Amino acid sequence: MTDTSLWHPFADMHAVRGAEFVLERGEDVWVYDTGGKRYLDATASLWYSNIGHGRPEIAAAIAAQLGKLEAYGIFGNFANVPAKEVAARVASYAPMADAKVFLTSGGGDSIETAAKIARRYWNAKGEPERTHLISRTQSYHGTHGVGTGIAGIGANRDGFGEFIREAERVAHDDPAALRKEIERIGPEKVAAFFAEPVIGAGGVIPPAPGYLEATAAIAREYGVLFVADEVICGYGRLGRWFGIERFGVTPDLITFAKGVTSGYLPLGGVIASAEVAAPFWDEGGRAFRHGATYAGHPTCCAAALANLDILEQDNLVTRGEQLEKPLYEALRSLADHPAVAEVRGGVGLLAAVELHPDTLAANPAAVAAVGAHARDESGVLLRTLNSSLAVSPPLTATEEHFRLIRQAFDAALDSL
Ligand SMILES: Cc1ncc(COP(=O)(O)O)c(C=O)c1O
Repeated sequence: MTDTSLWHPFADMHAVRGAEFVLERGEDVWVYDTGGKRYLDATASLWYSNIGHGRPEIAAAIAAQLGKLEAYGIFGNFANVPAKEVAARVASYAPMADAKVFLTSGGGDSIETAAKIARRYWNAKGEPERTHLISRTQSYHGTHGVGTGIAGIGANRDGFGEFIREAERVAHDDPAALRKEIERIGPEKVAAFFAEPVIGAGGVIPPAPGYLEATAAIAREYGVLFVADEVICGYGRLGRWFGIERFGVTPDLITFAKGVTSGYLPLGGVIASAEVAAPFWDEGGRAFRHGATYAGHPTCCAAALANLDILEQDNLVTRGEQLEKPLYEALRSLADHPAVAEVRGGVGLLAAVELHPDTLAANPAAVAAVGAHARDESGVLLRTLNSSLAVSPPLTATEEHFRLIRQAFDAALDSL
């Protein structure tokens, strides 16, 4: 294979150059490499292909919008029809009354936006000292400045210096740790608490029973804004439009991306409760001086609308919950394999197989080896994380696909 000029994200380019895995085509849960070999996309690419690949309705919607108005900014009072429609539809799905939607280009962008809305909100409310952002260990909030600063996966912060001084992390499974940390910082200095309903890239960690309900109550008690990071969990992954709905929690802000377009074009956003939006919407003279060039990009929004249509018409949103047990059951007994420490899942259509510390000590490249074996020998694409391998197939996947995933794990683990 030839060398490359493409600098891959999250990659050791010394190892990747000359060894790229090049995909060419996709259809539903399948993708094909440039040699025509077929692979089961057991991860929905980077957790986003909720409707599966290659839907012609989306291509048609994108082509139609390109022919009308391919792009135009929405700063100030400019708008376009698809952006207005996406905002209205997303607001109607949100578990907050009269929600407002700020559109972005992706998940990391949405985290930046949510953090700035939170701080600006407190500034407008006469509490400018509220600047601290609390997140959870193992959390992943993207790789922009704020996302790096609040990252719960330590390796994603290492070596970059400090992006935000007012960023603290608490144990991902202990509500008392949140209370303690708010008290330690001083509640009057805390702006927001960020939580993924199910931690994704940090290893697929469903919340401890009662955790989200308890932390939402603690945040409410201290006036701290609760930000549900739904970049993975939204749009059906947990069987609802937004995963947090399963826990009866009403967040102040929601960040979303990925499943809103199933990745056909990049789009993300932040949903704000009416209360958080009020200082900006109900009072004059206060612009929120933030926004990216491609916010509200009409062609991306047209892709989102077509994707939302498919999620609705094909009843895909509820499948995230219907399939959670079958997926978990298909993988669960892998925990009996000597190379495996634990299998996590059962909340939404995502799961992870954690390798045993002894396996990783003996072979630090074991996670990569399992991923490579599954791909090359079984034609199944798994997501390699730090010490685990994750699966999060498209919502169109069936139990037959779960069997293929299981077989790929069996063969790959045996090969170690
Ligand atoms: C929970 C969560 N938040 C934020 C992000 C960042 O999104 P993006 O990669 O679109 O910037 C991700 C990406 O995987 C994510 O999983």
